[in-house]
Amino acid sequence: MTRHQPLFNLHSLLHHIDSESDDDDDMDSLSVSSILSPSPSVAETSVTSHDMSMRSASPAPSVRSMSSSMREQIFRQEYGRGLNNYSDVYALPADDEEWERLEKQYSYMTSLMGKYPPPFGDIMRDEGPGGEIKRCLDLGCGNGAWKVLLHVIMDVAHDFPHCEAVAVDLVPMQSPSMPPNLRSEVDDLNMGLEHFYGDFNVVHAWLITSGIKDYDRLIDEISHVLRPGGMIDLMEWGFDIYDGNKQSIPLSVHGPPWLAAFLGLVISAIKKRGGDVGGPSRMATLVQNHPDFEHVVVQEFWVTTTPWMKDDPEMVRGGINMREDVYAFLKSAGPLLLGNGTPAELYEFMKRRVTQEMIEAKYPYWTRLRRVYALKRR
Ligand SMILES: C[S@@+](CC[C@H](N)C(=O)[O-])C[C@H]1O[C@@H](n2cnc3c(N)ncnc32)[C@H](O)[C@@H]1O
Repeated sequence: MTRHQPLFNLHSLLHHIDSESDDDDDMDSLSVSSILSPSPSVAETSVTSHDMSMRSASPAPSVRSMSSSMREQIFRQEYGRGLNNYSDVYALPADDEEWERLEKQYSYMTSLMGKYPPPFGDIMRDEGPGGEIKRCLDLGCGNGAWKVLLHVIMDVAHDFPHCEAVAVDLVPMQSPSMPPNLRSEVDDLNMGLEHFYGDFNVVHAWLITSGIKDYDRLIDEISHVLRPGGMIDLMEWGFDIYDGNKQSIPLSVHGPPWLAAFLGLVISAIKKRGGDVGGPSRMATLVQNHPDFEHVVVQEFWVTTTPWMKDDPEMVRGGINMREDVYAFLKSAGPLLLGNGTPAELYEFMKRRVTQEMIEAKYPYWTRLRRVYALKRR
């Protein structure tokens, strides 16, 4: 099968590390035990034609350090943040600050909607000796920085120790506590998933549309990756914001409201880079209309971005969480906006205005988290 050429081959990088001395000054302290997946059984079952998988040359769990030359191939620095060095489309950071933001978001999102949709436990059930080995794939898993432990695919690997879990992203996972049944692979999902066809019982794809060129194609690819009876689990924030009556606010860059204006800038930068910003709004219809899926469940969670609903403690808690996320996202969006021609003065102006608006909490903003899950027909 012909496939894209990888940007780098991990095995040659590992060879390079091996040939460096143990006390190499070049090594930084970042542990990459995770990118060297310890599970030989997982490793053997999903080899890409170009050997992009981040697997250990050794079958035993290993903890190693990432040399600065390896880091340079995987990450680049832009506007004070670390970004993946692989995709021209996805331009949000891939650094510790961003993973901490996503970890908090993961805690909040799973408190809203639960970690696993109801069919999950049944689908991933251990079939016992001689039974099918269950496999779960997380597309655009996030990096799982060395401090970050909360993560859907890590949870799957821990909660279902009999399963094989695979996490794919533009950067490797980097957790010191990588479960032995979890493998991290570096790949660009826009290149296709043919090498995974028919291999998985569950496929997650959460919050990835800004790095996806063609979301319709991705859904179709996932339908091929799933085994019959398997589950697709999609979740995305819409690229929109709503007023107190849950009416969409036009995303004009001429605020106020400034959060809407800021989002308008972000969306146009994502579009310019080729990201499919319409993905979240088409997600439900795409799965419902796809001939391979059945039992489609569409869920929507309305969330406030500031604690403006003062008489509802749950909403206040959510508003405080989301406000923290907005503060962090204002910074995360820097490389995306500045790298796409937004003048620095405009970016700084917007950040100040949005921050002020968030502190005052006077706009009754709503935003919407959408989840769609479905089963692949048998
Ligand atoms: C906003 S983060 C979400 C991470 C995680 N799914 C979560 O729910 O916390 C988006 C992730 O998708 C990855 N991503 C985006 N586009 C991708 C692509 N084309 N191929 C592989 N990974 C991609 C990014 O590198 C990033 O780690």
